[in-house]
Amino acid sequence: MTTEPKNNEAAEQIDINPKYGFRIVTAKTAGFCFGVTNAVDTAIREAGKGGKLVTYGPIIHNENVVEDLRKKGVGIINTPEEIPAASDGTIIIRSHGVPKAIYEAMEKSGAHVVDATCPFVQRIHRIVEDASAKGEKIVIIGNHGHAEVEGTTGWSSTPVTVIETQEEAEAFEEDRSVPLCVVSQTTFNEAKFKDLVATLKRKGYNTNVNETICYATHERQSEARRIAKQADIMIVVGGKGSSNTAKLYEICRAECERTYFVQTVDDLKLSLTGSEKLIGITAGASTPKNIIEEVQNRVRGTDF
Ligand code: F3S
Repeated sequence: MTTEPKNNEAAEQIDINPKYGFRIVTAKTAGFCFGVTNAVDTAIREAGKGGKLVTYGPIIHNENVVEDLRKKGVGIINTPEEIPAASDGTIIIRSHGVPKAIYEAMEKSGAHVVDATCPFVQRIHRIVEDASAKGEKIVIIGNHGHAEVEGTTGWSSTPVTVIETQEEAEAFEEDRSVPLCVVSQTTFNEAKFKDLVATLKRKGYNTNVNETICYATHERQSEARRIAKQADIMIVVGGKGSSNTAKLYEICRAECERTYFVQTVDDLKLSLTGSEKLIGITAGASTPKNIIEEVQNRVRGTDF
């Protein structure tokens, strides 16, 4: 895990539902992480300066935030082919990062490039760039097709293998004389990462393991697990396209059978038995505070 001083010293929030008497525990790590806050603040700051502005990919997996930025004049480009048309303005790289070739194409185009890649992701880019230059084979433990994984892949000078499941780890076959440099997607499930690395080691690979799951993810997952263990109902708030929210759901569901995944308060349809003592709430790294508060208010209320 990438370690860092805690950025959030606040305790988890505890409320009581006045009608049913159950406690409501909201994780202190619910919502924007340091990297997402930085990327969104960067976009808002740059929008305030005027001039042409786009982000490379939506700044976060949240339609409300993207729409608010659109109203402030922030556009989105999604492909390298669109870079030349944006070269007379500013291009913001979001927290997930981009492949090296895309980064270079932006710089070369003459655009003003504002890099909001999360420092924890940048660190992985450096590891992959250096290890591949030394001839190590790069393995990323992460989700196929995820923007961060694709970005990281693009910093290797040699072919990369992405492993997401045990089946893929079992099926992985490479020359065992070549050292493997293993990194993880920053938001990957820690327990799964350990299991997949153990499989590679058991198969006799010489592995140089870099557990690059970021501290914000580590804290969020540990806290969610701890609350879910005690909860009668667990609510995970986040976008359906957010892989870190999906992993939180997976972790909570393993501890609490009655775990709900909701995008907004409108999805929340709780059926209470009357015996509930604790309802837990957590949220993914791209879930805005107001959406979490709306869910909290509904659970605090009595109108079930
Ligand atoms: Fe950065 Fe971790 Fe957030 S890598 S963007 S602090 S989930």
